[in-house]
Amino acid sequence: MKSVTDPCWSEARLTDVVEQVRRSHGLDLSPFNRVFLTKSLIKRQAAVSAECVDDYFGLLGESLPEAMALQLSLFIIYSEFFRNPLAFSLLEKVFLPQILDEKERSGHGEIRVWSAGCATGQEAWSVAILLNELQRKSVSFRLIATDRSEPALAQARAGVYSAEALGNVRMRHVKRYFSRQGESFVVDPGLAEWVNFSVYDLLDESTICPPESIFGNFDLVLCCNVLFYYRPQMQQRILQKIRRCLTPGGYLVTDEAERGIVETAGGFLPAAQLASVFGKMSK
Ligand SMILES: C[S@@+](CC[C@H](N)C(=O)[O-])C[C@H]1O[C@@H](n2cnc3c(N)ncnc32)[C@H](O)[C@@H]1O
Repeated sequence: MKSVTDPCWSEARLTDVVEQVRRSHGLDLSPFNRVFLTKSLIKRQAAVSAECVDDYFGLLGESLPEAMALQLSLFIIYSEFFRNPLAFSLLEKVFLPQILDEKERSGHGEIRVWSAGCATGQEAWSVAILLNELQRKSVSFRLIATDRSEPALAQARAGVYSAEALGNVRMRHVKRYFSRQGESFVVDPGLAEWVNFSVYDLLDESTICPPESIFGNFDLVLCCNVLFYYRPQMQQRILQKIRRCLTPGGYLVTDEAERGIVETAGGFLPAAQLASVFGKMSK
């Protein structure tokens, strides 16, 4: 496989590809991080056995299925339960109890969470399990989980996972929150009552929060393994959106590899050393 520094995929060439795909097929590749886009182009070029960049460039212009395959390869739909153990441990031991204490004290009876870019739902179900475990009588919770991919959301809603996928889930949580169906495990309908899965594009400029949430006002937003794939301007757009719909004392969690993106973008303050958790800056 060619290296991503292959001069054939120069900045100018990438600009041509983005323009070509937009003009020929109406697909927009411009939001993507250029290094990631280059890697995906090289993979697709190898997958269709195109001899050289020019051959692949020609194919992209002519073939809508190939342009769509390229676009699909840019949306990596993968998730795991309790994917970042340190972040989830901090949520369980520090941040969620703190938010719950504050809710109890202030008499606001609902904790609101957004899993943004939830893929097949494991992240949302992981938080729902923690919240259900930490539950206080006077505080309910509502979890909005969104993704741009309806097929991924359909899987998330169905809540059916393999035994292998539950590898990071504690045995007592498996027993309490899943029931066995043949070789698979299905999320308990009682837990599903608190979680809403809906389509939402984080790059959408016409809304500031997912319509299902009505007014945002989230105490916690998880946006993990999403920012990563976008150009700085798009990362900024997503982070500003999240910032606007977080409550003043709210927290943002990203993947560890995205910590630098949040720090550079501004508007958030690190809230933990061991994981990529941020508080909202007041101004
Ligand atoms: C790698 S998965 C991460 C899933 C989960 N957050 C996790 O960390 O396990 C990235 C997800 O983000 C979604 N995504 C990417 N860009 C998006 C956008 N602009 N709006 C909504 N979802 C997006 C993809 O469809 C994919 O399901």
